[in-house]
Amino acid sequence: MSDLRPAAVIVLAAGEGTRMKSKTPKVLHTIGGRSLVAHAISAARGTEPEHLAVVIRHQRDRVASHVEQVDPDAIIVDQDETAGTGRAVECALHALPENLSGTVLVTYGDVPLLTADVLRGLLADHEQSQSSVTLITATLEDPTGYGRVLRDPDGGVAAIVEQKDATEQQRAIREVNSGIYAFDVAVLREALAEVGTDNAQGEKYLTDVVGIARTRGLRVTPYLVEDLWQTEGVNDKVQLARLGAELNRRLVEQAMRQGAIVVDPATTWIDADVTIGQDSVIQPNTQLLGATTIGAECTIGPDTTLKDTEVGDGASVIRTQAELAEIGPGASVGPFSFLRPGTKLGAKGKIGGFVETKNADIGPEAKVPHLTYCGDATIGEGANIGAGTIFANFDGLTKSHTHVGAWSFVGSNSVIVAPKTIGAGSYVAAGSAVVSDVGPGQLAVTRAQQRNIDGWVARRRSGTKTEKAAQAAAAADAEEALATEEGAVREGDRLDPPDGATPTTPQATETKDAR
Ligand code: UD1
Ligand code: CA
Repeated sequence: MSDLRPAAVIVLAAGEGTRMKSKTPKVLHTIGGRSLVAHAISAARGTEPEHLAVVIRHQRDRVASHVEQVDPDAIIVDQDETAGTGRAVECALHALPENLSGTVLVTYGDVPLLTADVLRGLLADHEQSQSSVTLITATLEDPTGYGRVLRDPDGGVAAIVEQKDATEQQRAIREVNSGIYAFDVAVLREALAEVGTDNAQGEKYLTDVVGIARTRGLRVTPYLVEDLWQTEGVNDKVQLARLGAELNRRLVEQAMRQGAIVVDPATTWIDADVTIGQDSVIQPNTQLLGATTIGAECTIGPDTTLKDTEVGDGASVIRTQAELAEIGPGASVGPFSFLRPGTKLGAKGKIGGFVETKNADIGPEAKVPHLTYCGDATIGEGANIGAGTIFANFDGLTKSHTHVGAWSFVGSNSVIVAPKTIGAGSYVAAGSAVVSDVGPGQLAVTRAQQRNIDGWVARRRSGTKTEKAAQAAAAADAEEALATEEGAVREGDRLDPPDGATPTTPQATETKDAR
């Protein structure tokens, strides 16, 4: 089965998708971190076709540039003004090599849960049964809107009738055409040339190929797929959310089967390209988005959103928002941390509560533990950035970079006015505004000398509770001074006790305890 390869896969994505009620083309809406058409392309690529064509028309340029980005090797085919799935496939065949032979698969750009596995199954069944057409069918509770499958007495497919063209009796049939097919390319070409537009919608129907093949005595086989999600298309935003939730359920389950521990699958969102190492624990309300990779034995969440972020083995990331960040093995981030693009935290480093970082390379074992803005900075191994430090990287015109050397110590509430270099093994005193470089081993202090002005509260805040507190404290101090004096006198009375024991008085002990 694995050496079966289709000659081509044609992905249909030219439809308008009016029911989406959106400025964004339907196939560019995303679930699981990928557009609908990217899901379709990924499944198609999984069959390793010689050619992959995507047929587009509605919002042509937007869809084309997206498809080019997702799959640069895909052939972009423009459908002309003739409408219908049959015309779409015909346009694709014109764009593919004339001498193409073998099997062509047709899929839809708006059916995101279809997997390469099912397509491979379809292909294998098609070749094994030596059919001219094999189509995926599904039996639905409510088949309204779909093309119905009319079966032959021998179980083959006689024809497909669209909802709008069907009789009352035919509408009662619950087996529907999913729109996913395997065709012998020669049969497909010839039959399409015969298909007209004489139907309720005035379109060139791909489904008419089935009837034409049958009249020629060729074999058309149904391939019944029981997992209905695989063939469900997105037509509106309700379906988008429904399929998004189901895709997520599947991705979370896959992550658990591969060794992740997901505490609450219902509130965990994992995009299609995310990988999670064994025994990493994903706590509730966590979103792992884009190309995020999580190592083994990490703790992620609760309440964490990581996008395109790499987390090393054994790291812990709690209540954190991060994008395009790299978190080293054994590092710790959060709670309440905001890691913006370009943040890199070395092994066993720490980014703590209420810290925002951006374009910051923080070395191994370095710590930025509390209340800091760290933008455009390189911080050496083991450096400690005190609480409330601000890297002032923007002067209103340009952004500048700061270097902090290894094992240096920046005291709390300092502001470093970039560009600056703080040498390895240096200190910045708490509350400093660093406006010139600091050399290795130096202590930088930029604080003004402290002055204490006597009697200021009595003069300027008289009558307030503050003044009363000051008076009470002054009175207590005076009393204590007196007591200490008396104690000293009494002790003096008893100098040189005959046994040489240390003299104590109950009163002195009490005063000491009361402090
Ligand atoms: C089609 C099938 C129907 C099947 C259903 C399954 C036909 C005539 N009918 O119906 O039997 O049950 O799909 O969902 O094929 N597209 C183009 N160009 C077009 C028209 C459509 O590329 O001119 C693409 C759309 O973007 C979409 C797919 O083909 O990806 C299906 O189109 P849609 O209009 O949804 O087909 P249905 O009428 O629902
Ligand atoms: Ca449809």
